[in-house]
This record gives sequence, structure tokens and C-alpha cells, in this order.
Amino acid sequence: MNLAELNKIARAMTAPGKGLLAADESGGTIKKRFDAIGVESTEDNRRDYREMLFRSREAMSSYISGVILYDETIWQNAKDGTPLVRLIEEAGAIPGIKVDEGTQALPNCPGELVTAGLDKLAERLAKYYARGARFAKWRAVIDIGAGIPSMTAISVNAHALARYAALCQAAQIVPIVEPEVLMDGDHDIDRCVEVTQRVLNKTFQELRVQRVALEGMILKPNMAVSGKKSKTQAGVAEVAEKTVRMLKNCVPASVPGIAFLSGGQSDEDATAHLDAVNRIGGLPWPLTFSYGRALQAAPQKAWSGKANNVPAGQQAFTHRAHMNSLASKGEWTT
Ligand code: 13P
Repeated sequence: MNLAELNKIARAMTAPGKGLLAADESGGTIKKRFDAIGVESTEDNRRDYREMLFRSREAMSSYISGVILYDETIWQNAKDGTPLVRLIEEAGAIPGIKVDEGTQALPNCPGELVTAGLDKLAERLAKYYARGARFAKWRAVIDIGAGIPSMTAISVNAHALARYAALCQAAQIVPIVEPEVLMDGDHDIDRCVEVTQRVLNKTFQELRVQRVALEGMILKPNMAVSGKKSKTQAGVAEVAEKTVRMLKNCVPASVPGIAFLSGGQSDEDATAHLDAVNRIGGLPWPLTFSYGRALQAAPQKAWSGKANNVPAGQQAFTHRAHMNSLASKGEWTT
């Protein structure tokens, strides 16, 4: 492993004013997004939509450091035959790849999930590297509810994240380590903090046990937020203060960068929260975005599957990317 090179890529992924576009929706998830805008999820439509994003020159060269791709997309070519990966590289951004294979029910732990995809991962990573991927993503999912999460779920998911991260580094690919604590429940923000801290602590413990080099990875955590169904919703200042405290408690300073997931926050909340955490300042790591929904909801709506709407879709994407770029520097205003 060339750690200096991994560190260089990790720092480029979280360079000032830039963040990641998570465009790695699985077949099922992209179908859900397309259903919402009345577009059939065909291979060509998925290609056209993603090509529209990757050809958004201003967004891709000024605000986006890298793109997380799904397996289908990394092998796809644009309409004119150029590999989509090349479009990303030509804009000056780094191609990345989601390598987990989704979640499965965790035996003996009703309602809990474990992420699959370790089988043959070394072979898959080598192919993705040859195609141009320089970083990867693996998402673990932890739900909060009555009696959950169990220590079993936290532990097996942390173990898998560390297995994945070690395999990535051996393949000269920067792992994005994503232990997502869901915001779907009716819990308050303090319960989110308590669970997220447990999850982060266990994840870093496993990373150490499996000798993952922290200088060669990116953390993709959830922010400290109230559950969506909670009667009390924490405001922006509280989210920022508790998010920063939670990260300071759990994330070693040697991690080169942190890129948040949006996790179902509204576009504007995701931007406002990122801006507020960055206004606190004085932290050992850059804090930026690795947003899926919060970057793509607006362009999906503007595009709605029509070639005529490509400029409007690109404009909507560029606007969200610009706002999140400003927020990553604590310079966003409404
Ligand atoms: P969201 O920002 O929509 O949560 O997606 C980010 C992601 O990559 C989840 O794995």
C-alpha cells in the first residue's frame, strides 16, 4: 500500500470548497427516484440522467471533488461513446465506486441489518481500479427503535466496514467508511448522539484492530439530528453544536476528512447544517458533503426525463452543488 498516495486522494476528496456527489443509487433506489418524476428506469434513461450530471461543467470542476458510482454506471458510456468515468476525470473530479451489495436481515436480531459484499471484494476492487476508481464506499445501516440497535448489530457492521476498508487500502483505493445511523425513528437528538457515538467508537476500534491506516480513509457519518417522527425537532444551532461534539469525542485527528451523508434531510436543512458545523471552526478535519438526495432531488425534478430539460437539470444541480460548496466553507447565506 502507498499510504502517501491514499492520503493525497483523501485530501483531494475533501479539498476546500468541494465535496462528493453520491450518484450510486442501486437499481431499486434509482427506480424509486424515477417513479417519483414519472420516468421509466431503463438503462438508457439512467445513463442519460447521470450523463447530464457529469456534463455539468461548472458544478463538476468547481464544487464536486468526486463521484460515487454504481457498478452499472462505471461501465457505461455516454451517448457519444465516451466512458462516463472519463467525463468525470475530464472535469477534474475523481471517480469512486460503491462496493457494498446492500443490506440483509441480521439473524437473531429482529429488525436489524448487516451489509453484504465482502465475498470476492479483492477481485472486484482490482477491476474497478483498472477502470479508474480511486475511492470506494461501503454503507452500514443502524436503525434506532425500541430495544435497538443491539451491540451485535453495531459490532458485525463495524467488523465488515473494517474488513472492507483494509481490502480497499490493499488495492490502493481510499475507503469511505459510512456507518449510517438512520434518522427515521421518533427518537430525539440526544438519543441519536448516544447511538452514533457508540457506533463510531466501535467502528474506529475495529479499524484499529484490522490495521486500517486512518490517514488513508474518509469518514462518512450522519449528523446529530432528531428522528424524523420526533415531536421535538432540534434547530440548526443545536444540530451543529451536537454534531461537532460527537465527532470530537469519537473521530481521531489523523482522519484526513469527513463528508456527511444527507440521510433524508431536506435540501436546505442539509446545506444549513453543513454551513453551521463549519462556522464553529477549529476542528482537525475538513467537514464537507457526500450528498445523494440533497444534491439530486432538484435536478431530478427539473429534468423529469426530457432531453429539452437538460439545461434546467444541470442548472438545478449546479445551484445545489454551489450552495453546499459555500456551506463546506461556512460561507453560505440564504
Ligand atoms: P444521501 O445523502 O441521500 O443520504 O445519500 C448519501 C449516500 O451515499 C448514502 O449511502
